[in-house]
Amino acid sequence: MNRIEHRSGWTQWRIWGYLPAAFVLVAVWAQSISFAQQAQSTLKLDTGKEIFEAACAGCHGMDGKGQPVSTLGFEPSPNFPDFTDCNGSTRESSLQWSSVIHNGGPARGFAEIMPSFGPRENPALTDEQINKVIAYARTFCTEDSKWPSGNFNFPRPLFTDKSFPEDEAVLLTSVNTDGSGFENQLIYEKRFGAVSNFEMRIRGAFRSLPTGSWIGSVGDTSVEYKRTVFLNNKAGSMVAWATEVLLPTGDSKRGLGSGITKLETFLSYGQILPKQSYFQAQAGIEAPPFRRHQAPAELFVRAAAGKSFAQNRGFGRAWAPTVEFVGARELGPREKTIWDIVPQLQVTLSQRQHVRLGMGVSLPTINTTGRTAQAVFYLLWDIFDGPLTQGWR
Ligand code: HEC
Repeated sequence: MNRIEHRSGWTQWRIWGYLPAAFVLVAVWAQSISFAQQAQSTLKLDTGKEIFEAACAGCHGMDGKGQPVSTLGFEPSPNFPDFTDCNGSTRESSLQWSSVIHNGGPARGFAEIMPSFGPRENPALTDEQINKVIAYARTFCTEDSKWPSGNFNFPRPLFTDKSFPEDEAVLLTSVNTDGSGFENQLIYEKRFGAVSNFEMRIRGAFRSLPTGSWIGSVGDTSVEYKRTVFLNNKAGSMVAWATEVLLPTGDSKRGLGSGITKLETFLSYGQILPKQSYFQAQAGIEAPPFRRHQAPAELFVRAAAGKSFAQNRGFGRAWAPTVEFVGARELGPREKTIWDIVPQLQVTLSQRQHVRLGMGVSLPTINTTGRTAQAVFYLLWDIFDGPLTQGWR
């Protein structure tokens, strides 16, 4: 809100008009906190269910769906969770929930009405109790085993395709460090139900000419369908299978596209490791379905391992250093396997952690002829977590 708006009488009136509502909010909030603290000393708060019913149900309802507005006394925001809705409740990582429960809604750019139960000074619930209440809140989604847990939503590697289905938009740029060209990609991912994911990738390709001038055009386009084929939430393992069609929409005559339709199929594996570490891998084959003589089929393998470090007791801004290996081999008697190593870092930008920046360098390592190092960056927006403009503080 800017200052001029602040001074206008209308805004002042509006602020006063909100007072009664704010009062009710504070009352509900204060009550729930004191209830939680009181409950701590008088009731036994051993199980997740007991904790939830004493400290959370006042707003989130005994059934996890959220109390009706008449009981709540406030109009819940679109983010107000219905824990029984698997599509919403399974997406968030336990760390995200833990941050919100420990430090309150604002810890992740949500409303202040969601109280903090585990601030460092004078916590209402212990870490152990918070873990228990999270586990209990997870049981409201009764099809839990079908839905990949939000803990699989690892930092996105620069090349390896994630197995987790999600709603996401990514703007990715790769720049050849020898100045010969660069490419922009707009990647849009849309999740359908528990296990399906659709992806579309539009490219813009740019190349420098020997004369020193630059040319650019729309590059190749790809569409992909991905589906979870194996899931074990307890073991933290999942595998997805995907098919991708690469359409030669780029100007191949000017070196800005491949000029051939290609079909790709791959498996993508995600493994949750202890302490916010992760391993992701992808292996598949790419081949032109028609006119086979035009281009040989290519096998590819990619793998990424990393760990996320977060500031502020593990709940704040997250930094995820990752190292990735990218290998490919064209099928043919004299073809060689090429390998790149890609050190990289992803960092969360928004308070809600739904906007992230990734950056790294792809370093040709084995059979490097004809390849140059590339600097790669992306800006990522986790669409499901809220509009781009929300959740910054
Ligand atoms: C005073 C009402 C109130 C109480 C009590 C309350 N919550 Fe909330 N909670 C909210 C509101 C409101 C939101 C949504 C915030 C928003 O929309 O910005 C929320 C959001 C959440 C979220 C969603 C975070 C996300 O990533 O989407 C979780 C998880 C949660 N609460 C868990 C709990 C647990 C567990 C307890 C009990 C220990 C609890 N809440 C107690 C009001 C409350």
